[in-house]
Amino acid sequence: MAALNGAVENGQPDRKVLPLPLRSLEVKYTKIFINNEWHESTSGKKFPTYNPSTLEKICDIEEGDKPDVDNAVEAAKAAFQRGAPWRQMDALSRGQLLHKLADLLERDRVILATLETMDTGKPFLQAYFIDLEGCIKTLRYYAGWADKIQGRTIPVDENFVCFTRHEPMGVCGAITPWNFPLLMLIWKMAPALCCGNTLVIKPAEQTPLTSLYIGSLIKEVGFPPGVVNIVPGYGPTAGAAISTHHSIDKIAFTGSTKVGKLIKEAASKSNLKRVTLELGGKNPCIVCADADLDLAVECAHQGVFFNQGQCCTAASRVFVEEQIYPEFVKRSVEYAKKRLVGDPFDARTEQGPQIDQKQFDKILELIESGKKEGAKLECGGLAIEDRGLFIKPTVFSDVTDNMRIAKEEIFGPVQPIMKFKSIEEVIRRANSTEYGLTAAVFTKNLDRALTLASALQSGTVWINCYNALYAQAPFGGFKMSGNGRELGEYALAEYTEVKTVTIKLSQKSP
Ligand code: NAI
Ligand code: MG
Repeated sequence: MAALNGAVENGQPDRKVLPLPLRSLEVKYTKIFINNEWHESTSGKKFPTYNPSTLEKICDIEEGDKPDVDNAVEAAKAAFQRGAPWRQMDALSRGQLLHKLADLLERDRVILATLETMDTGKPFLQAYFIDLEGCIKTLRYYAGWADKIQGRTIPVDENFVCFTRHEPMGVCGAITPWNFPLLMLIWKMAPALCCGNTLVIKPAEQTPLTSLYIGSLIKEVGFPPGVVNIVPGYGPTAGAAISTHHSIDKIAFTGSTKVGKLIKEAASKSNLKRVTLELGGKNPCIVCADADLDLAVECAHQGVFFNQGQCCTAASRVFVEEQIYPEFVKRSVEYAKKRLVGDPFDARTEQGPQIDQKQFDKILELIESGKKEGAKLECGGLAIEDRGLFIKPTVFSDVTDNMRIAKEEIFGPVQPIMKFKSIEEVIRRANSTEYGLTAAVFTKNLDRALTLASALQSGTVWINCYNALYAQAPFGGFKMSGNGRELGEYALAEYTEVKTVTIKLSQKSP
């Protein structure tokens, strides 16, 4: 997920003051974090995490599994009990702890951005200006909410007093992906903590480093032991132990639709824990003939190539009105050919490697399917030879809706461009997908913009912009793109239970 949060325009950071990455950074935190202490795995097993741009192993991480999740849940349950320091704390003090955590992210921003780049291969400046910026703003936004989560007084029969309390749910599980490892964690952690819950987190196995570093900051800030617990490990083991756990009250997940379904199934087979899911997308980006063409071409380009194309918001179906189609394709190809692919620590680099061999193979296979099914390959279409997991920015034109590249989430640097004739047609085609995460519209015509904004079935519609995400504004999907919302005031409802208290007065009104 891209969180521009005002830090950048169209995916380009403000390059006036460029921070420098730490070239030799020792990884300090590789263990399981429970009760503010570091533990080895119960099984004694470890797993490697790699740097996808060099394919070298960075280090081994303690591999959590069910017994470690059980220990983490015990700690989180104890921290949630009435009488525990976390529950006794004034809500305002909870907010102050979140502000302090944001302060430490600011202090250690270069370290965290360096770790994120090592572990994911994303350009360092993006990690610093976009991912970390989004984390800090999200923490501060929810820090402000901690003491403002209020119930209501409800008018009923006058012999009764009725009010609601918005209470924390309990132990929340968070399972995060590898494309925005720290940001997706903070999107879950900040609202969960501000509402007074406790947490058991499982970061993606490809990218555990920044999540574990956050463990050290949680301790330094002074969160009571057990409020935040982090169990690195694999999905079918540690992840499944969270989704099936009877003492976990809620789970928040970002990742594939396939695993999202498994998590919902596990929740319903165990304790009906609450589930929020942020899943895939096949997001339409509609460019009308009257659009500002420079803006539309640049936004569509950034929209699909940002973060190596590994975004659930990726603009991976670009619909262009027929009058401007040839010109749009020509300019998009020029952009793609200029995109600088290389060492993510180099300040000029716009695109790093894909996260791992599995994703790399999936993308190349989809590119081959596009060629076979008759799309016109305008540029790219190949891996960069002798360079591990790097793929050339790829543009396809003459794409039709039945092709796999127009239907499946590619999650890579591939831009499929289609042609449309009328607004009715493009609405129908844009909506004919099982996904519904985001959509974008480029036009100067207000009537068209608003017609499309109401007709498109997606959780977010961007008009004349792309990836404009804010901590204050809810984010989530229609249809199979997910359930529930992250960010904004809406996310508070995902981390609280409403309790109705009704009191009968002993004296009847005269
Ligand atoms: P994934 O859904 O397997 O991984 C996401 C997280 O789920 C990881 O932490 C993983 O360990 C965990 N997980 C895996 N199996 C689990 C299980 N049985 N129970 C509980 N947790 C489990 O995604 P993967 O395989 O890394 O990527 C596959 C595709 O998913 C990508 O090509 C992309 O299309 C999509 N994806 C979407 C993301 C998004 O931002 N919505 C993020 C990552 C992947
Ligand atoms: Mg890694």
